[in-house]
Amino acid sequence: MVSGMQVSQRTEINVEILRRDGSEAKPYRQHFRIPYRPGMNVISVLMEIQVNPVTADGKTVAPVVWDCSCLEEVCGACSMFICGRPRQACSALIDQLPDPIILEPLHKFPVVRDLVVDRQVMFDNLKRVKAWIHIDGTYPIGSGPRMNEKIREKMYAISKCMTCGCCLSVCPQVNDRSAFVGAAPIAQVRLFNAHPTGSYMKSERLDALLEDGGVAACGNAQNCVRACPKQVPLAESIADVGMQTTLRAAKRFLFG
Ligand code: SF4
Ligand code: SF4
Ligand code: FES
Repeated sequence: MVSGMQVSQRTEINVEILRRDGSEAKPYRQHFRIPYRPGMNVISVLMEIQVNPVTADGKTVAPVVWDCSCLEEVCGACSMFICGRPRQACSALIDQLPDPIILEPLHKFPVVRDLVVDRQVMFDNLKRVKAWIHIDGTYPIGSGPRMNEKIREKMYAISKCMTCGCCLSVCPQVNDRSAFVGAAPIAQVRLFNAHPTGSYMKSERLDALLEDGGVAACGNAQNCVRACPKQVPLAESIADVGMQTTLRAAKRFLFG
């Protein structure tokens, strides 16, 4: 690694990428060296490699595959490990990164190819906890009930979740032996349960989180809190939903 001063004076960028030719293929590392331009981010570095996929030792290779869409840290598609930290490639500025820049696919998710992972499990878990509000028909139904301003403000912070998967990628409880849904779906349960219309499915969401892999599987290590690029209040949401599930379990015990 080079110091901050050296990084700001650099004329080229060294990039090391953990690649895989397919989901079953063995991973390997490749080193690229590309010309530096001011204002570059990791996506623009990957675009340079795509245009000229030649390694630092002069070998022409298959272009590196990655995913992106919004390019403004909203969709989560470009999430990957950048120098050991899960984050979005579109908002990772080269001037703020060490050299070499090390890129790896997001941990804990099946690799499709190179830096592309399959985040389907996150969407399946959102379905599992019914993280939505039913709308009856396609016609305009007018404005919904107003929310208390303080609650709305709190819930807005949760609504910023972009399903990027960074919280799951660092969670020790997310692994092959566990059905744990992860922090993001738990926070979404809090969001939809707090909504005046969404709350009518509150019991069903809490029942889903009382099953194997639900909120009780959280080990409270809070790695997720540090990893979330949107500062979703994950620890607070896990505690809140944990309380809601306890009350729900007590109610089920007493009233069936
Ligand atoms: S608190 Fe720890 S165990 Fe719980 S979801 Fe976050 S990282 Fe995972
Ligand atoms: S809670 Fe944060 S880290 Fe987790 S998926 Fe949402 S935005 Fe990403
Ligand atoms: S491309 Fe959408 S978050 Fe980076």
